[in-house]
Amino acid sequence: MTLSLEARYLPATDTTANSFELSFSNYTDKPLSNFTLAYSAMSRCVRGSGVDNGTLLRRVANFHEIAPPEGLVLQPGESWQFKIRQLEMPSRHRVDGPKSAFVTVDGEVTPVQCSDLQGPEDKDTGELRHIPKGQVDMPIYAVPFPQQVSVKEYKAGLIRFYPAATASDADKAAMLKIAALAKRLFPDSADPFRLAPARNGIALAFAQKDSFENDGYSIRFDGDAAELSFSSATGRDYGLTLLAQIVYGAESDPETFQTPTRGVITDVPRFGWRGSHLDVSRHFWPTEDILRFLDILAWSRMNVFQWHLTDDEGWRLEINAYPELTMTGAFRGPGLPLVSQHGYGSETYGGFYTQEEVRDVVAHGQSLNITIVPEIDIPGHCTAVLKAYPNLVDPDEPDASYHSIQGYANNALNPAIPETYTFLEAVFAEVAELFPSEYIHVGGDEVDVKSWLESPKAQALMAEENLKDTMELQAYFLRKVQAMLRKLDRKIAGWDEVSHGGGIDAEGSLLVAWQKPELTRKLIEEGYEVVCSPGQAYYLDMAQATGWEEPGAGWAGVTSPETSYQFEAASGLDDGVANRLKGVQACIWCEHITNKAIFNHMVFPRLFAVAEAGWTDPQNKNWQRFAALSHHFPKL
Ligand code: ACM
Repeated sequence: MTLSLEARYLPATDTTANSFELSFSNYTDKPLSNFTLAYSAMSRCVRGSGVDNGTLLRRVANFHEIAPPEGLVLQPGESWQFKIRQLEMPSRHRVDGPKSAFVTVDGEVTPVQCSDLQGPEDKDTGELRHIPKGQVDMPIYAVPFPQQVSVKEYKAGLIRFYPAATASDADKAAMLKIAALAKRLFPDSADPFRLAPARNGIALAFAQKDSFENDGYSIRFDGDAAELSFSSATGRDYGLTLLAQIVYGAESDPETFQTPTRGVITDVPRFGWRGSHLDVSRHFWPTEDILRFLDILAWSRMNVFQWHLTDDEGWRLEINAYPELTMTGAFRGPGLPLVSQHGYGSETYGGFYTQEEVRDVVAHGQSLNITIVPEIDIPGHCTAVLKAYPNLVDPDEPDASYHSIQGYANNALNPAIPETYTFLEAVFAEVAELFPSEYIHVGGDEVDVKSWLESPKAQALMAEENLKDTMELQAYFLRKVQAMLRKLDRKIAGWDEVSHGGGIDAEGSLLVAWQKPELTRKLIEEGYEVVCSPGQAYYLDMAQATGWEEPGAGWAGVTSPETSYQFEAASGLDDGVANRLKGVQACIWCEHITNKAIFNHMVFPRLFAVAEAGWTDPQNKNWQRFAALSHHFPKL
């Protein structure tokens, strides 16, 4: 017995006239009257445009609240049809329609079941994500693939490694750590390592040498003995992770993968920054999921986790000096200052990480050689902050004087309000206390070009400082933030728009280039150090095929696993400045990624494509090999 909402997308030749036809049905056993219907959909109605056979009461970003025609009574079994006349952007996939909905009667909320958006069948290519079976030229399960593999003999079957008599306590502890990692990821698989000599096993000796740079290592296989050489403890962990992968592959796909018994593998990561970002604001991932995600990053030998802790849809980090950030700013839902968005709309939805939990995450990252880079996204993307602390708003700025690309009104911290800086100093002091990372990421993305222009306080500051537009005011603000972080002995990182309006001091600052591939080169030429993360290749929320039924976002097009894999960050870079390319990063935005099943579909295998781009030199990459391995990746 339920309420149901179904939507159909009607594309128009004039794309400003794309529309939704919706049908709301009452399959309960009682008539429904005096109600409003609310839903969240990625395809938003144009602000101020109309609804046929209903009235749009509110639209906040993706949240729509609609009243039926006056006096409508929906009897059991009846439906109300209405139409959204114009959509801000075309729908591309079945997930662009209502993700969650609810009705409200006399303040009481009832959930509504939503179906996939129906698409234009005549225009649907029908193409779904396809990953080929793939083919290996060497029977080695290793991702990212090592730089040099010269193996002459292999042995089939489950072959464990155990420490040779010469192994130190530290070597044994490292083996136990990586065995535990493998066991957490694949609880149904055999331990790769054991302290006691294993029948049919390989005795692993360790040799610390000075000759490996950048956490490189090598492994020599010689019958029932092997030797792992390394310089740093991290290099030893990387070598052990490779061995754990070899054991896992030989067990999980014995027809394809075996264990080397004669030869040498020599390996070193290509880049120092092999990262993944995760948006925990649009969808809140509990600490246990974050810890497991770090395990997955460690398995792929990625070493940076950019934790996107704040956004319009929720602030997720406990800050002692500003408790409302998480009391008010971490939850959205019916009747709350932050309205429902995306999934789970009929509930109070959200959560945050206590400082104790953050310490656990940081420690887990450290033990797995992963730096946690916190992201506090300012000055834009701050709806949750401004709902929690309305004193940070210029009271004389008209409501809705600008809107972000996601449709939030007046969502940027105001650079002309002294409390803004008091707030940020307190927040960054606690952030620096919690996160030992060299960099703190401050966002800087998607500030609307009309931001602050109707704030009298901002206008006065712009006149005083001779700043001609929003972007120059943003740069003024970000330079202050850079100085604030320098006092905390931290470097600033941000998205590519941090370079706008004159930018910040490039010395020691790092930008993540996301809007298009060419920006990596442009920012490097402007003097910044850059991490390459273009939406068109490394945004793992993008759909993986053109078909309507394939889930995912579409603003950056379609990114098949092969597109992600084949992308080359350094193409077009002159050798003279190539050292300013610090690495590559996957981004996992969670407007669409609202449960583990969809996470796994979107993130794998593409996350590992980014991992391999970060580790393996282009000439050592091989799509068919990667495809073959991809059928055996861990999942969240
Ligand atoms: C971004 O995708 N707004 C960095």
